[in-house]
Amino acid sequence: ILVTAAGTEEPLDPVRYLGNRSTGRMGFAVAAEAARRGAQVVLIAGPTHLVTPAGVRRVDVRSARDMYAAVCAAYDGVDAVIKAAAVADYRPVETAAHKIKKSDGELTLALTRNPDILYELGQKKRHQILVGFAAETQNVADYARGKLATKNLDFIVANNVAEKDAGFGVSTNHVQIFYADGRAEDHPLMPKAKLAGVILDRVEAILKQRTVT
Ligand code: C5P
Repeated sequence: ILVTAAGTEEPLDPVRYLGNRSTGRMGFAVAAEAARRGAQVVLIAGPTHLVTPAGVRRVDVRSARDMYAAVCAAYDGVDAVIKAAAVADYRPVETAAHKIKKSDGELTLALTRNPDILYELGQKKRHQILVGFAAETQNVADYARGKLATKNLDFIVANNVAEKDAGFGVSTNHVQIFYADGRAEDHPLMPKAKLAGVILDRVEAILKQRTVT
């Protein structure tokens, strides 16, 4: 099982970066639970203070492009990808070699698109089960269903990060799961550790179904 977790850091200069509020808790919980169930787990993690779960092989990365390279290197050998990382959509066009000095007036940053890692995985999907996350602040179902289709996912775990107990930096989550066949499930507020089990139950069910048919 390949799990990605935490945010990415997109460097502006040697001391500054563009980042986001993801702490990595959701992905680390999935990696821990998958290892506990006996899976071989590779956890590709952006910068975080979290401790590596027992039995998990961890690869540390910083930027979205680092994460893309690490994920692609592992992709062929995995049965499922659970992409809990909050990947930066944009990076600075240039990373200054030296610390940017302040001057009077405005400073404008030019940004360019990062690769959409999950979209790329969806394009070259073979046997792999692909699970995405959608952190939204509005129109959760519409955006989540759109991403599910565009990125060629098996299911997507969507949450409204504007809710107090869901999303970044808290130990609970409140999600809906949308499936490629159109089904949707509402789940109650629960600890991320428990949600990790819910997600892995569904991955296991898809794997079992494939073994039978
Ligand atoms: O950022 P977005 O809402 O599109 O994220 C949906 C899913 O796509 C998440 O699972 C996230 O990890 C993944 N993603 C990615 N590469 C990006 C942006 C998002 O893999 N550049």
